[in-house]
Amino acid sequence: MKLLHVDSSVLGANSVSRQLTAEIVAQLRAANPGATVEYLDLAVDTPNHFSADALGIKFGQQAEPTEAQRRENAVSERLVSQFLASDVIVVGAPLYNFTIPSQLKAWIDRIAQAGRTFKYTDKGAVGLAGDKTLIVASSRGGIYSTSEMGQAMEHQESYLKAVFGFMGVTDVRIVRAEGVAMGDAPKAAALAAAHADILAVTADAANEAVAAQTA
Ligand SMILES: Cc1cc2nc3c(=O)[nH]c(=O)nc-3n(C[C@H](O)[C@H](O)[C@H](O)COP(=O)(O)O)c2cc1C
Repeated sequence: MKLLHVDSSVLGANSVSRQLTAEIVAQLRAANPGATVEYLDLAVDTPNHFSADALGIKFGQQAEPTEAQRRENAVSERLVSQFLASDVIVVGAPLYNFTIPSQLKAWIDRIAQAGRTFKYTDKGAVGLAGDKTLIVASSRGGIYSTSEMGQAMEHQESYLKAVFGFMGVTDVRIVRAEGVAMGDAPKAAALAAAHADILAVTADAANEAVAAQTA
C-alpha cells in the first residue's frame, strides 16, 4: 500500500488536523507494516499560486518553454505523479475562513490536470484517479455538521468531496473534530469523536487496500 500523508495547517504543533493525520497514518502503518509513506507538508513546501507559467507548457504558445514555465511544470508533474501513485491519501484539512487553507488549494490546483486526473468527453467530465481512498482529517473551530446553515456555510469537506469526486476519487472518508474553539469540554468531545472516527475509518481503509492488492 502506498500512502500519501498531506498536512496543510499553519498552526504547527498546536494544529488539531496534524494531530489527527499523524494518528491516522500511525494506525494505517500498524495495520500494514509493508506500507510506504510519502509526506507533504504544504505549510512548509507550498506550491506557488497557480499561474500562467504553471499552464505555459500545456498551452505551448512559444517554441521553447521559459525557465519559469519549466520550473512550474516540474512542480505540477512531481505532485500529480505522486498523487496518482498513491493508494490511500490522508489529507489534513483545517477550516479556515469557511474553506480549506490556500496551501491545500495550491496543491489541488497542481493535481487537478486534464488528461491526468480527469478528462472531458462528449458525455461530460470523467475522473481518471479512481481506485484510491481519501481520508480527510477535518478540524473546525465551530460546529457545522448538525445544521443546514452550518452545512451551507462550510466549503471545506463539501469542496474536497466535490473536487476529488471530479477526479474519480469517490471513496472519501471523513475524520472530523469540530467545535475545537468552543471551550475545553467541546474540544475534548470533538477529539474523542475524531478518535472514534479514526478507528473505524482506518480499519476499513486498511482492509480494502489489502483486498485490492490481492485481487
Ligand atoms: C486563519 C484561521 C481561520 C479560521 N476560520 C475558521 C472558520 O471559518 N470557521 C471555524 O469554525 N473555525 C475557523 N478557524 C478555527 C479552526 O478551524 C480551528 O482552529 C482548527 O483546529 C484548525 O485546524 P488546525 O488546528 O489543524 O490548523 C480558523 C482558524 C484560523 C487559524
